[in-house]
Amino acid sequence: MSTALHPSRWTLRTKLVSSVLLLFVVIIMAIGALTVWQLQRTLADRIDQQLVTSAQQLAVPSADRSDALNYQGGGGNSLRVDLYAGNVVYVQDLQNGGIRPSALINRLGAPPTQLSVAQINIVRTAGIGDHPSTIGLGRAGDYRVIAVSHAAKLRTQATGPPSSQTVTTIVGLPLGDTYAAVRRAALAVALLSGAGLILVGLATAYVVRRNLEPLRRVAETATRVSTLPLSAGEVVMHERVDPADTDERTEVGQVGLALNQMLDNVDGALTARQESETRVRQFVADASHELRTPLASIRGYAELSRREREPVPTGVQHAMSRIESESDRMTALVEDLLLLARLDSGRPLDREPVDVTLLAMETMSDAHAAGPGHRWKLDLPDEPMEVVGDEARIRQVLINLLANARRHTPEGTEVTTRVAGDGGDVVVTVSDDGPGIEPSLLPHIFERFTRGDSARTRTEGSTGLGLSIVHAVVTAHGGDLRVQSVPGRTTFTMRMRRSFQETPASMPSVAP
Ligand SMILES: Nc1ncnc2c1ncn2[C@@H]1O[C@H](COP(=O)(O)OP(=O)(O)OP(=O)(O)O)[C@@H](O)[C@H]1O
Ligand SMILES: [Mg+2]
Repeated sequence: MSTALHPSRWTLRTKLVSSVLLLFVVIIMAIGALTVWQLQRTLADRIDQQLVTSAQQLAVPSADRSDALNYQGGGGNSLRVDLYAGNVVYVQDLQNGGIRPSALINRLGAPPTQLSVAQINIVRTAGIGDHPSTIGLGRAGDYRVIAVSHAAKLRTQATGPPSSQTVTTIVGLPLGDTYAAVRRAALAVALLSGAGLILVGLATAYVVRRNLEPLRRVAETATRVSTLPLSAGEVVMHERVDPADTDERTEVGQVGLALNQMLDNVDGALTARQESETRVRQFVADASHELRTPLASIRGYAELSRREREPVPTGVQHAMSRIESESDRMTALVEDLLLLARLDSGRPLDREPVDVTLLAMETMSDAHAAGPGHRWKLDLPDEPMEVVGDEARIRQVLINLLANARRHTPEGTEVTTRVAGDGGDVVVTVSDDGPGIEPSLLPHIFERFTRGDSARTRTEGSTGLGLSIVHAVVTAHGGDLRVQSVPGRTTFTMRMRRSFQETPASMPSVAP
């Protein structure tokens, strides 16, 4: 049996219906067999009764034996064979019924003409006694037979008067009618059982289906919940099993109730998670914001000290310039963190038409100025490409991507920015033929604080937040950002819709 057909793989409905049907078949077969057997016994008993009655009539001494020999019971196909000293002296016609005139009685050993010789021999040699027994007479079918010995007038000599002799008469009744009646009864039982089976099958299937219906609804609820995006953002889970399907007294109700309790629990946990996430975000936003003022002061004082006319020792001068550059770096970091916190909190973005072609040209020329050692290429369409969004953020995306192409590749690397339309989308790619992103880094490249070893050792500030900002901005615009990188070709592909529906803020897999 293939595993798919194995009962363990059946649905509960199939199992229930087939169990009920199996039970029904067993019971109905037992009842049917018993009924038919009982009927057969009753009919057989009646025939035996008739045979015994006939035998008793034959045994009664009568003045005229030839009358007594007239077999009373039976009907058309009854059988009678009279034997004297093992020889047949009378045979009743099996085919035509009726009793032959006793002419035959007078002809001792006359060959039987109505029963075939073979049939007569079966009767003679069957060892029939005074208890009814069954013999088979070939094409004539089965007969219930009994033997009785009685006195009869018989001419034993060719001439002379008949004398009283002991004759054995075998009388029999055909079992064909009994068999037919039993067959008819069996057929009726079989037909009724078949009809009953279909009826029981349909009724069981209906009842089982009706009773399992709530289970299907519970499963549907579970399936709907399983498709909800629960991994990030504000999640409100309203899905619950219908109260009608949570009746504790039924098994299905218990499942429904358990599912609802589980959903309540998950809902509570998600709300708690969301609250703690919001608190963390708020903390980062607040902390970044609070850091801005003292940082501005530090930068201001450092700048002020540079303008000092009094001679300052070289060591102090160096320290002051380090303080200034580090505070610049920290300011950039704080700005990045603040921006990420704001994007995380799903703060609405500006929605204005932004000409991406123009942005690409401007940021490219800035990058050229910052990295004259690189070869900068632009590939722009003839007509302007506009998306609806926040210009400052989209500009930052391009700045970050171009800064990476400049900072993480050696001089002489060719960097190409390409803007193209693709149906309702605008596709911007920034690619370079530099050494590529380290493969171990690639799967986590958009996570916060992910940066390569080369970037860590650089003196120039590198925080690992650049690409997470790019990702967060593109996602917040309902766009899609991909990266492909092998040594010699690194391509960032950004796809944004010309008009966008804001997506709920999504928390990247690594929290700040
Ligand atoms: N075009 C590129 N070629 C090679 N490596 C790259 C490229 N772009 C990014 N990387 C690698 O990906 C890392 C992450 O980049 P990301 O912009 O997030 O951070 P960063 O550039 O190190 O710091 P910052 O926050 O200042 O941008 C980089 O440290 C660098 O190792
Ligand atoms: Mg960067």
